[in-house]
Amino acid sequence: MTAPIVRTRAELREMAQLWRRAGETIGVVPTMGALHDGHLSLVARAKEMSDRVIVTIFVNPKQFNNPEDLENYPRTEHEDARKLERFAVDAIYVPDGAQMYPDGFATTVRVEGLTDVLCGAHRAGHFDGVATVVTKLFTQSSADLAFFGEKDFQQLQVVRRMARDLDLGVDVVGCPTIREIDGLAMSSRNLLLSDQARSRASALFDVMEDMGEALQSGQAMDALLPAAQARLAAAGFGDIDYLELRTNDTLRLIHRAEAPARLFAAAWMAGVRLIDNIDVPAVT
Ligand code: PAF
Repeated sequence: MTAPIVRTRAELREMAQLWRRAGETIGVVPTMGALHDGHLSLVARAKEMSDRVIVTIFVNPKQFNNPEDLENYPRTEHEDARKLERFAVDAIYVPDGAQMYPDGFATTVRVEGLTDVLCGAHRAGHFDGVATVVTKLFTQSSADLAFFGEKDFQQLQVVRRMARDLDLGVDVVGCPTIREIDGLAMSSRNLLLSDQARSRASALFDVMEDMGEALQSGQAMDALLPAAQARLAAAGFGDIDYLELRTNDTLRLIHRAEAPARLFAAAWMAGVRLIDNIDVPAVT
C-alpha cells in the first residue's frame, strides 16, 4: 500500500492530531532517505510498537559540515516510497528546506559533553544540526516513540539526552545495527563506494571484531592499535578519524573493557567516511 506523502508541517500536524485524539500512539522514524534494510528494520520495530508510523525523509543541510558531502548525499525519494509499501506506514513526511527552516530561523539545539568527542570532534556543528532537526521532527510529528539505529550510537545517545533534557515526551528506542553479509554496517553512504572500495570496506568490521575479542581477553587498546591501524591501511583505508573504546552511557574514553563499552571507529575509504561501533561488554 502506498503511504501518503506529506510535504507540509501543517498537513502532518493535522493528521497527527486526529490520531492523538483517537488515543493512538505515534512512532516516528527520522531518516535522510536512501533507505536500506537498516532503516527498514527501524520501520518494522516502529510498526510493532506504535499504532501509527510516520517515516520522515529530509536531507538536513544543518548537519553537513562539507557542502560537497551534502551535494553528493543520495536522494532517492521514489525508490524509498516503494520500499516502504510493504510496511503500510501511515505517512511519509518529506518536507523541503523552507518547511524546516523558514526565513529568519534562528534557533539551535545543542547537547553538551556527549558531542565533544568522536564524530562531534571531527564534524563541527554536526550534532547541533542533528539535535535541532530531530527536535523539530519530534514536535511536528507529535511522536510518542522515535526509532534510531545503534549504528549511529553517538547520535542515539545525543538524541536520548536531548529528549530527556527538553521533556519532549518521546521515548527514544535504539535498534541494532544491520549488516551486509560481509559484516559492513548498512549505511546510505555505502552507495557512494566504488565496487572495489565496497569490497575492501568490510575490513573495518573484521578489524573491530578482532579488537573486541582481544579486549574481552583482557588486552588494552594501546597494545591493539598499531596492528589494527596497519590492517586498515593494508585494506585501503586512508585517514582514521578515530578508533576508540568508550563507555556506553557517557562516552568516556577507556583503555580496557572495564565498564560496559563500545568500540567506535570512523575511517575513510576512497573518499567516503564510514563509521561503525560494536558492543564490548565489561570483563568481570
Ligand atoms: O541518522 C540520520 O539519518 C540523521 O542524522 C537524522 C536522525 C535523520 C537527522 O537528520
